[in-house]
Amino acid sequence: MASSRFFITILALTCFLFTSEAKEILVGGKENSWSIPPSPDFLNLWAEKTRFRIGDSLIFKFDGKTDSVLQVTRDDYNSCNKSKPIKEYKDGNTKIELSRSGAHYFISGTDGNCEKGEKLFVVVMSNKFKSSNAPASAPAPAPNQNSAAGDEFKLGFMGVAYWLLQHKVSVMMAACDTFRSGAVEQLRTHARRLQVPIFEKGYEKDPAIVAKEAIQEATRNGSDVVLVDTAGRMQDNEPLMRALSKLIYLNNPDLVLFVGEALVGNDAVDQLSKFNQKLADLSSSPNPQLIDGILLTKFDTIDDKVGAALSMVYVSGAPVMFVGCGQSYTDLKKLNVKSIVKTLLK
Ligand SMILES: *[C@@H]1O[C@H](CO)[C@@H](O)[C@H](O)[C@H]1NC(C)=O
Ligand SMILES: *[C@@H]1O[C@H](CO)[C@@H](O)[C@H](O)[C@H]1NC(C)=O
Repeated sequence: MASSRFFITILALTCFLFTSEAKEILVGGKENSWSIPPSPDFLNLWAEKTRFRIGDSLIFKFDGKTDSVLQVTRDDYNSCNKSKPIKEYKDGNTKIELSRSGAHYFISGTDGNCEKGEKLFVVVMSNKFKSSNAPASAPAPAPNQNSAAGDEFKLGFMGVAYWLLQHKVSVMMAACDTFRSGAVEQLRTHARRLQVPIFEKGYEKDPAIVAKEAIQEATRNGSDVVLVDTAGRMQDNEPLMRALSKLIYLNNPDLVLFVGEALVGNDAVDQLSKFNQKLADLSSSPNPQLIDGILLTKFDTIDDKVGAALSMVYVSGAPVMFVGCGQSYTDLKKLNVKSIVKTLLK
C-alpha cells in the first residue's frame, strides 16, 4: 500500500529548523539532582519538559559511595524493585546513551530512595521520519485530546481524508470510536459526503480489533490508506488511553497524528507531552510508537500563540504536518515555514 510518502515529504520541510547534534543532558537540569528530590515528582516534571532524542546521553551526577543508578523495566520502576536491574551504574558521573526510541526507566540503587522520588522515566522520540525511505503501508489513527473539541477534530480528520483524495490516494475510514454514542453515525455522515468507504462494527467492540479488521478489508478492497477514527481521547482517561495504546501496538500504523486546537496554546504543549508519556507508559511494547505528527486546527486565529506550535514540535519531536485554516475540511494547509518565522519576529 502506498500511503505515507506524502507525509514524509512534508516532514522534511517542517522539521529542518529543529535538527541538531546529539546532546548530553544533565539529569534534573543541575548538579547532584540524582538524589532524593524536594518533591516526589520533581525528576519526572523535569523530564516532561525536556526533549530526548536517539543518540542523546543522560548524565547522572551523584556520590558514587552512597548511591547508584539502576536501569530497570517498567514494572520494577513502578514497584521500586532493585533486585534484578537491566544495568547498574556506580561511578557517580554516569553517562547513559539513549540508543533507542521509547521509554527508559531509572531508579536509585540506595534502599528507600526510589520510594522517595529518586526515579526517572524518559521517553525518547521516534526518529523514523528522519530517513527518507520509511516503509509505507496502512493506517493513521488520529487521536484527539479532548472530546469537547470533537467537531474541530472531525474537521482535521476529514481534512486529511480530503487531502489524500486530492492526491489520488484511495481512502477507507475505520469507525474505532466505539465508546461515544453517535460517533459512528457521525463518521458515516462525513464519509458519505466525501464518498469514502467506511468500515464499521458498531459500538462496544474493541477498537484495536475493529482497526485490524478494517486494514484487512482495505487490503482486500485495494484501498491505499486506512484512516482510523479514535476521537474523544483524553490523556487523563486511563482506560481510553490504554485502548488507544493497544490499538497502536496491534496495528503498527504508519502514522499517529495528534489533532489539537491551536488556540489552546501552551495547554496543548502540556497535553501533547502527557499524551506521549501515557502512550509510552501503557504500551505492551518495549519500544512503543508515539505521536508522529501534529495537526493544528484553528491555525488562522492564533496570531501571537504561534510560539506554542513551535513548543509542541520541540517537546514531541513530531512535526506540524497540517494546519486547519477555516471551517471546512477543504481548508487544511501545509505549514508555511516562512510565514511562521515572520509572525515570530513581528
Ligand atoms: C522483585 O523482582 C524479583 C525479580 O524480578 C522478583 O522475584 C521479586 O518478587 C520482586 N519483588 C517484589 C517486592 O515485587
Ligand atoms: C469491500 O468490498 C466488498 C466487496 O466488493 C464490499 O462488499 C465491502 O462493502 C467493501 N468494504 C468497504 C468498507 O467498503
